[in-house]
Amino acid sequence: MMQWRGGALMLGAALVAVSVGAQAQSGGDTIKKIEEYRQALADGNPADLWEARGEDLWKQKRGPKNVSLERCDLGKGPGVVKGAYAELPRYFADADRVMDLESRLLHCMTTQQGMTRAEALKVPFGDGEKRSDMEALSAYVAGESRGVKMNVSQAHAKERQAYALGQKLFYYRGGPHDFACATCHGEANKRIRLQDLPNLTETKDAQKAYTTWPAYRVSQGELRTMQWRLNDCFRQQRFPFLEFGSDTSVALLTFLARNANGAEFNAPAIKR
Ligand code: HEC
Repeated sequence: MMQWRGGALMLGAALVAVSVGAQAQSGGDTIKKIEEYRQALADGNPADLWEARGEDLWKQKRGPKNVSLERCDLGKGPGVVKGAYAELPRYFADADRVMDLESRLLHCMTTQQGMTRAEALKVPFGDGEKRSDMEALSAYVAGESRGVKMNVSQAHAKERQAYALGQKLFYYRGGPHDFACATCHGEANKRIRLQDLPNLTETKDAQKAYTTWPAYRVSQGELRTMQWRLNDCFRQQRFPFLEFGSDTSVALLTFLARNANGAEFNAPAIKR
């Protein structure tokens, strides 16, 4: 559903015009046009609102223990947010697990702020008036890695395990259509309707895909995280619901993030 928030109205109308006009045109034109609108709006990305709310949530004393997240260690030391997202997922000794950003936030919210898992995940993905704290926090933390080169480690055995599992999952075919991620994302120039499908086995596409999430989705009027992106692709694959922070989720995120190594992180972005 389109939410008429801030700059979304103008871009939304523009995109509708583009996609209608595009039906008679080649896909290349459409993509070029969307790219132009994206650039025109780069200075007024509504994702800023999520980032600001996330920063506020990070600093607020919350939960039964009434503490902020400013002691949360995202991998670069307690409270260090700058550049943290570009190195996630990573191994955390205190949990003896590889964690992506959302798993780590969940860990800090439960262990430090004393929330239950259910409380912390009350609204995993926002929907209009139901705003997600998790998405806002993710937007804030991710934004603090803008301009930082992706640098996901494979030094720890569990990091290598997570990557190997993610790779296996990427090529694993299943569900009623016998789809793997690779079915839709393993070849160049594939598309569903007007949407270009990135070839995630290609370094350039893989880097671009990973470094542009979270993103403000114009078509939904919501900020969406990479975690959401995976959930939506699971749905397209007719797979069961992807459990938040599960080993499957962390493994796929490790695979995608590591494959983006070397590219400059540039999100929250704006997408159709
Ligand atoms: C049935 C086809 C299909 C399958 C299977 C599928 N996806 Fe997708 N994927 C899509 C579509 C459609 C998009 C959105 C493209 C758009 O909006 O421009 C997308 C987008 C993405 C993106 C974001 C790309 C970008 O540049 O923004 C990532 C990352 C991704 N998928 C990963 C996966 C992973 C990992 C799996 C397996 C768990 C998977 N997908 C399975 C169809 C699929």
